[in-house]
This record gives sequence, structure tokens and C-alpha cells, in this order.
Amino acid sequence: MTNRPENRVLIFDTTLRDGEQSPGATMTHAEKLEIAEMLDEMGVDIIEAGFPIASEGDFKAVAEIARQSKQATICGLARANFKDIDRCWEAVKHARSPRIHTFIGTSPLHRAIPNLTQDEMAERIHDTVTHARNLCDNVQWSPMDATRTEWDYLRRVVEIAIKAGATTINIPDTVGYTAPVESADLIRRLIADVPGADEIVFATHCHNDLGMATANALAAVEGGARQIECTINGLGERAGNTALEEVVMALKVRHDIMPYDTGVDSRKIMNISRRVATVSGFPVQFNKAIVGKNAFAHESGIHQDGMLKNAETFEIMRPEDVGLSATNLVMGKHSGRAALRSKLKELGFELADNQLNDVFVRFKELADRKKEVYDEDLIALVKQNDAVSDRLKLKSLKVICGTEGPQHAEMVLLVDGEEKSIDATGDGPVDATFNAIKALFPHEARLQLYQVHAVTEGTDAQATVSVRLEEEGRIGTGQAADTDTVVASAKAYINAVNRLLVRREKTAPGADVKNVGYLDAGE
Ligand code: KIV
Ligand code: ZN
Repeated sequence: MTNRPENRVLIFDTTLRDGEQSPGATMTHAEKLEIAEMLDEMGVDIIEAGFPIASEGDFKAVAEIARQSKQATICGLARANFKDIDRCWEAVKHARSPRIHTFIGTSPLHRAIPNLTQDEMAERIHDTVTHARNLCDNVQWSPMDATRTEWDYLRRVVEIAIKAGATTINIPDTVGYTAPVESADLIRRLIADVPGADEIVFATHCHNDLGMATANALAAVEGGARQIECTINGLGERAGNTALEEVVMALKVRHDIMPYDTGVDSRKIMNISRRVATVSGFPVQFNKAIVGKNAFAHESGIHQDGMLKNAETFEIMRPEDVGLSATNLVMGKHSGRAALRSKLKELGFELADNQLNDVFVRFKELADRKKEVYDEDLIALVKQNDAVSDRLKLKSLKVICGTEGPQHAEMVLLVDGEEKSIDATGDGPVDATFNAIKALFPHEARLQLYQVHAVTEGTDAQATVSVRLEEEGRIGTGQAADTDTVVASAKAYINAVNRLLVRREKTAPGADVKNVGYLDAGE
């Protein structure tokens, strides 16, 4: 039996691996390092930092995160072959506490792709887990698509992995198919039936295709799992993963019913949620549990009245518990640099002096145009500072629009530092603007999504624009804000192109998480 307290649940965050795998959620090297540092500081037990074999960039990010880690165990993902495992070890070995996570799809559908019989796969599991364990004494093994694997086979391969030295067995619900009662039952049966199961930690890894990921993860804990795999904001493939903030707060708020502890400081949740939304380009939906803009907002008269009399009438947790400040300091044109720095810190942005200066200049410009600058305005301003890549930059834009078409966009764009200009036309100001970008930087990407929303109220509100582009299966999402909707649209489009270019570079040698083959079964 492990000597960890019975009621301690380990939090394994995979924002930088499974989260980054969601289409369009590309993070730069610096952004990954920053998120890893925040995860470490908030008390996450294990950080899955990436998939080292997937690309040179992933390898470097995992290695650097391993080097900078302070408390957390740093884990890398590897398929069931020696080359992946060796590469993973080369990256994570720099950590104070490294872990190799190796996996293989065990369900009939997944076995069919590399065309392995049950026995062949069992042998491969034995060999690869043994190999990983010879390199590292902390090895996690996952039977991908466990919830659709035949019970007898699942039981058999879990036993093989434990005997070969796995110290954590993760049971993934890869396609988000299971339901809470089943999820608890599966872990309970494995612990009861598999020899050696009480020597290791069982983990749960749930996807959200049916909206049950968090419920399934919590149920697995009731069944005996002591590691929850999750991501910030529930980022992840398709409908995403179990959200870290949901499981941490559920275990905190319902502690008398589910007496399990995590080591996560919940007051850091809001900051990291905002930061991940920014760097991943995936905004948090307004009504998202815990971290959505409306999670602590009350509008109806009854609710407001109740809240004023006793906050507990309509809130099961306090905003401060997740790091939302109770006092909302509104910034305006008289606010100084120190106030801006402290406000940004509260919002989760610690900027270097030169970055702060840059944001301050734009904050003053905005404050001259708007009476009050809200948190959302500031977040939008900082987001603009997050240059993903500097290849394309908007220098100036003048748009002529109105009832008489065609509309014109006069644009000056910096492409790799070189100034290019054009006067393009289009069917409306946004179309003309996008045509200008396409003419100045020709590309084949198709516009998949264009969305505008106001970040604050009033006609002087900043508009936040989201753009999603697709090019040969690669996705680039961009976001930008400005009080001028067309300028925000241009910046968002340029941001999406820049992200696409980062993705293009990552995939150049044919090696990327979204490009790696199924198993490399020939090795
Ligand atoms: O969803 C899944 O099965 C995974 C595995 C790699 C653990 O992400
Ligand atoms: Zn997953």
C-alpha cells in the first residue's frame, strides 16, 4: 500500500499536453513555461508538460519546464515504443521529480489500427513499461479508450503493467462515453480484482463529450481513484476534459460529503484561468462553472436582494475562494502606473517594466476614449500585447464604409518587418479589411469562424473579435479587442495568421502532436 493519506487526491494537470491538443490552441514556448510555473505555484501535483517526441518545440518545452519545476512532478507523454519513451525521458529527466507516461489504445477499435492481437499488445505493454521503468522510477501507464475495452482484457493488461513496474495506472474515458456510476464501478472493480492494485495509484482521465467529465472524475474518486487528470478551463480535444477548477472546488465545497483533499490553492484559480484563456485563444464561456464571467453575477431582483442579506442564499462559495477580489477597483484616466500594475497583478498578469509601459500607454489612450476601464478592457489590452509571433503586424488601417459600396480598406502591414500597403475593396468593411490582409500576405487559409462581442457595456465598449482559420487541417485562432470593431477584426485575423504560422513551423518536419502516427507499430 502506498503511504499517501487515504483521502489525498493528486491533481494531474494536462493543459499543456491534452489541452494544447485541442484544435487551434497553440501556445508558444514562453507561454507554456509561464503556465507551468503558475501550475507549480498553485500546488498542482503533476504537470503533464507535453509530448516530447511530437516535435522539437514540444521536446524543448518539456525539458525547460522540467528544469524550472519547483514542487510538481513533471511528466511527458510517450506512445508504446522505445523511441518515444527514450525521448520522453531525455526531456523529463531534468526535473526534481520526473515521470514517464506511456499509453496504448486497448479497446477493439484501437487494437485494430496497429493490427495487434491481444497477445501481441500485451507483450508490447510488458516490454514498454519495463523499458520506461528501467529509466525512471515513476511510470504512469494508460490503456487508452479503457471504458470501451473488454473487461477481461482490461483487467489482464492492467495487471501486466503493474507487474512491469507502473506506479500509476490511468483509466481514460478517451471518448467521453462513460457515466458516473460506471466510472466509480470500473475503478472499484479493478482495485478489487487486479493483483498488486493496492500498491499503486489509480487515476481517472475523462473527456467531456457528453458533458459528464467532471462528474465522472469525482465518481472515480469515490471508486478509489486517487489522481484526477484535468485541464484549466476544461481545455482539451473535442468537448474538452475534466476542468481543474471544477474538481478542486467541488472537493472543497462538498468536503463534508466527499472528504478528499487536494494540494491546490484555489485562490489562484481565476488568474490561471484567465491566462490560459488568453494564451490558448479559447475564451471562457460566460456561464462556465467557477470561472465564467457570470459564475458570481446576480441579476434578478430576488437574487440580488438575497445576496445583500446573506451571500450564502445564492452562492455556495465565495468569489475570494477562487481568487476574485471582492472589491472591484475601476480604473480611469486618472489612474497611475502603480495602480495599473497592481490591478494587472490581481488579474493574473505580472508584466516586465517594458511590457507595463507599453500597456500603460494604450491604457491611457483607452481611458481618454472611455469613462471607465473595466477588468475586461484591461485583459483585452494585455492580450493585444501577447504577440504570438511578430511576422505580421498591423501598422495602420483606414476604412471607408457606408451605404455606397464597395467599401475600401487602406492598410499598411509589416510582414517580417517589411512595410507593405494596399487599398483593397470588399463587400463591407470587414471583408475589405480581410481582403487587404490576404493581398499583402497571400495564404490559402479559410475563414471558419468570425465572432464579435462587446467586452463591456455601452457604445464605447471595446469589441473583442475572435477569428478561426483553417489551412490543410491546421487551425489558427486569433483574438483582439479595440473600441473600433474593424480594427479589432483586422488584429484578430492577423493574430490567427501568426498562430497558424507558428503551427506551420511546428509541423514542418512532419512531427507534431496532431501529426504523429498512431503507434509507430513497426518499431
Ligand atoms: O484521452 C486519452 O485517452 C488520453 C491518453 C493519452 C491518456 O489523452
Ligand atoms: Zn485525453
